[in-house]
Amino acid sequence: MKIYVTRMIPQSGIDLLKDKGYEIDINPEDKVLSKEELITALKAKPYDAVLCLLTDKIDGEVFDAVPTVKIFANYAVGYNNIDVEAAKERGVMITNTPGVLTETVAEHTFGLILSIAQRITEGDRFTRAGKYVGWAPMLMLGNDVGGKTLGIVGLGRIGTQVAKHAVKGFGMKPIYYDIARNEEFEKEYGAEFRESVDDVLKEADFVTIHVPLLDSTHHLINAERLAMMKPTAYLVNTSRGPVIDEKALVEALKNKTIKGAALDVYENEPALTSGLVDLENVILTPHAASATEETRSAMSDLAAKNIIAVLDGETPANLVG
Ligand code: GLV
Ligand code: GLV
Repeated sequence: MKIYVTRMIPQSGIDLLKDKGYEIDINPEDKVLSKEELITALKAKPYDAVLCLLTDKIDGEVFDAVPTVKIFANYAVGYNNIDVEAAKERGVMITNTPGVLTETVAEHTFGLILSIAQRITEGDRFTRAGKYVGWAPMLMLGNDVGGKTLGIVGLGRIGTQVAKHAVKGFGMKPIYYDIARNEEFEKEYGAEFRESVDDVLKEADFVTIHVPLLDSTHHLINAERLAMMKPTAYLVNTSRGPVIDEKALVEALKNKTIKGAALDVYENEPALTSGLVDLENVILTPHAASATEETRSAMSDLAAKNIIAVLDGETPANLVG
C-alpha cells in the first residue's frame, strides 16, 4: 500500500503506517502545497491513502486526479478544507481527529480567557518595552473571570470542556446556545440554554466560539451581533476564523463596542485583517490551540489508525460526512 503525507507530522503516526509495511512518501518541504503541487505529487504513484492537513484544499478536482485513493485522513478535527459531498459522490472516505485534542484546545481557550481578562500578553509587551517603572495602584487593571457569565456558542466536545473548567475551576456561570440542547450538561454544570446566539451575546461577559465552519456559521459574528455584546465583554475564538467577520471585529475593538478579543484563528489566515495587530486589546495566537507535543502525537496516531482501518477493509473510527 502506498501512502502520501502532505507535510511532516509527529513521527508516531508515521511509525504506525511503517509497521504495516506501507510505502510512505512525505512532502519533502516543510510548507503547504498549492492545489497544483498537491495534484502533481499525488499523480506520481497510484496512492491508496492520503494523510492531509487543514491547510490543504481537497475537492473534486483532487479526488479525480488520484482515483486510487480510498481515504483522505485529515489531521484536524475541523474538515471544512475538504469537499465531503464530492468525496461521497466518488466513494472516497474522509476522517478527522476528534476527541484527542479536546482538552488541549479547551486549555488554550481558557488561557486566552484568563490572558485577555488579566491583560497578560499586553503586560508582557509593556514590561519588555521598558515601560514598567514601578508598582502603581492603577497600572494594568483588568477584570476577574470568577463569578462572570461565560457564553458558549457551540456546545460540542470542546465547548463542553471549556465550560467544565469555567465552572469547576473559576466559578463562572455558563450560558450556551447550540442547535441541540443538552439538559444533562445543564444539570451537571448549572448551565442555562439560550434560544439564540443573540441571547448569549447580549448577556455574556465572555463569549467563546466552538462551532464548525459551515455556510450557516460563516460570519455568524458580524457587526450587528458584535453590537449586541456588552461594551465590557470579551470575545474568544479557537474554532475557525471565517466564523467572525474580522473587519467588523477590528472596528468593534477600535470603537470599544466590546472590550477585547482573543483569537487563535483568522478569516484569511495566515493573513491578518489590517489594523488587528495595532490594537492592544486583542490577543493573537497562531492557530496553535491543539499544539502540544502530547496532542499532536495523538492526532498523528489517530489519522494513521483511520488509514489503517480503511486499508484493512474496516470502517474507520472517525468517518465524517
Ligand atoms: C484545528 O484547527 C483542528 O481542526 O484540528
Ligand atoms: C470538536 O471536537 C468539538 O466537538 O468541539
